[in-house]
Amino acid sequence: MNTAYHEPVLVREVLTYLITATDGVYVDATTGGGGHTKPMLERLTKSGRVVCFDRDADAIAETKQRLHPWKSQVTFIQDVFSRIRDHLVELSIDNVDGILFDLGVSSFQINNLDRGFTYQQDAKLDMRMDARSGLTAADVLQTYGENELADVFYRYGEERRARRIARRIVQERDKRAITTSGELAAIIRESVGQKYLTKSMARIFQALRIEINAELEHLSNALSQTPGLLNTGGRLVVISYHSLEDRIVKNFLKEVSATQKKTDDPFARHDTEVEPAFKILTKKPVQPAPEEQMSNPRSRSAKLRAAERC
Ligand SMILES: C[S@@+](CC[C@H](N)C(=O)[O-])C[C@H]1O[C@@H](n2cnc3c(N)ncnc32)[C@H](O)[C@@H]1O
Repeated sequence: MNTAYHEPVLVREVLTYLITATDGVYVDATTGGGGHTKPMLERLTKSGRVVCFDRDADAIAETKQRLHPWKSQVTFIQDVFSRIRDHLVELSIDNVDGILFDLGVSSFQINNLDRGFTYQQDAKLDMRMDARSGLTAADVLQTYGENELADVFYRYGEERRARRIARRIVQERDKRAITTSGELAAIIRESVGQKYLTKSMARIFQALRIEINAELEHLSNALSQTPGLLNTGGRLVVISYHSLEDRIVKNFLKEVSATQKKTDDPFARHDTEVEPAFKILTKKPVQPAPEEQMSNPRSRSAKLRAAERC
């Protein structure tokens, strides 16, 4: 497979956890460059089907081309994965056998300077996964209040010097708009010093990306739809790349795999036990083997969690 667009992570593990029926219906909620979709299709029989989501038009166009040989088995949807239920209803699909989320951004998005995701080179600040609409990173830096900016940097970037950086941004933007990663780097350097620059840039970029794309809201929203979408025995597989994402996935799985006590009748003597929706298949998150981490540095922070619909 041509991995120039994006090198897929934990492919073997995804297939092992996700595919239970080779003629089943699956959702790749983050198809990206099709790095997981293609091996999924290779594993399925001709009656198997995959519904692919991505909010990024480039990803959909690229993957449509790559997966041309399977075109009768694949449906592409350019939208946020939090609209998964609506789209499946539109496609008259009641239930599916597996749903995969491979979160975050693709290498193509990061490496393409026009998309403004990178702080490694001077580029315009954009970071919208769906370039059709919404605020760019430059818009956020220009329009948010100082406290709002500091909250974003602290909450989504876990940046300790969030207030100092936000204050500096507000001072500088009054002189001229901050539109490139180079300009933002200069401000961060003045706020935290050269020693912390790279780490702070990474944290601020992560924070802006999460904010602009409402990443955590879409994730929580989509996860909450999965119990209603999966067949019994169907699988949910999620790969996360940072602690904020992983915490949401972990807490969701903990909640839906616990036996709930429910009392409808206030005079009832005993609580009724409600069966859990999911059985967790990965007690600890699965991480890439050392060889994969060596050959694909982006995989180093990956954590895969999987669960089965009861
Ligand atoms: C890590 S990449 C997926 C890579 C893919 N699995 C592969 O191996 O080629 C994540 C993809 O998910 C998309 N994405 C992120 N959040 C999304 C959301 N809320 N809804 C739809 N797509 C999303 C991004 O645009 C990106 O293309």
